[in-house]
Amino acid sequence: MPETMLEMDSVVAGYGDTHILHHLSLKIGKGERVAIVGRNGVGKTTTLATVMGLTRQHSGAIRLKGELIDRLPPYKRSRLGIGLVPQTRDIFPSLSVEENLVAGVRNGSSIDEAYDLFPRLKERRRNGGRQLSGGEQQMLAIARTLMGKPDIVLLDEPLEGLAPVICEMLVEVFHELSRRGHTIILVEQHTALALEFADRILVVEQGAIVLEASAGELKANRAMLDRHLGIAVAH
Ligand SMILES: Nc1ncnc2c1ncn2[C@@H]1O[C@H](COP(=O)(O)OP(=O)(O)OP(=O)(O)O)[C@@H](O)[C@H]1O
Ligand SMILES: [Mg+2]
Repeated sequence: MPETMLEMDSVVAGYGDTHILHHLSLKIGKGERVAIVGRNGVGKTTTLATVMGLTRQHSGAIRLKGELIDRLPPYKRSRLGIGLVPQTRDIFPSLSVEENLVAGVRNGSSIDEAYDLFPRLKERRRNGGRQLSGGEQQMLAIARTLMGKPDIVLLDEPLEGLAPVICEMLVEVFHELSRRGHTIILVEQHTALALEFADRILVVEQGAIVLEASAGELKANRAMLDRHLGIAVAH
């Protein structure tokens, strides 16, 4: 097991007084590629949001590189190396591509690196955020998160609703980020994609991890995974 990047220990969290995560625990090693799968509404987004400090945490502990972070506000967690690409693909619609990227610059990160990874964004640099296609918006949302130089990147269903050719290109970018040393958590509805990308799969059900296995094991035993995902496999 490599050094631990992120650890959630029996975390109870939710919105207001509502508990969505019920003693959720997970451990992610430095440089690992992990996929989180699970049916709609089981708490995948809430898990990522809780790591980022965007929910209310009632108990348990969250550690980043061994340091307790669960009392820190989101911007401090981001400075410590966590980058979230939210399911909502947050970008500034009224700013140009380049202005969106400039807004994210930190720690000596450069816009050229983003253009290197996404040549398409360079072509669209003067276009406004709201003129972009869904795929381009997702590229920009990812590029903006990367400007913060995160050690761990949390991707919340980044391929949702995008054309197959864009999905392929983005998956290639995720592999590239992994090669560059980023730890990656990918929340993904498509089991096949999760199995193809990740080293390890975590299945969430009702706010807790109910199954944890290597992608290899699950490829050899799809029935085990399908049992847990139930209806999600059907569509
Ligand atoms: N801002 C919020 N306030 C209150 N409840 C919320 C909020 N966001 C999500 N929930 C509830 O928390 C539960 C888990 O939602 P969450 O978005 O984490 O699920 P998910 O696994 O990401 O689902 P999906 O696959 O649809 O993205 C759901 O019951 C949802 O209704
Ligand atoms: Mg979600």
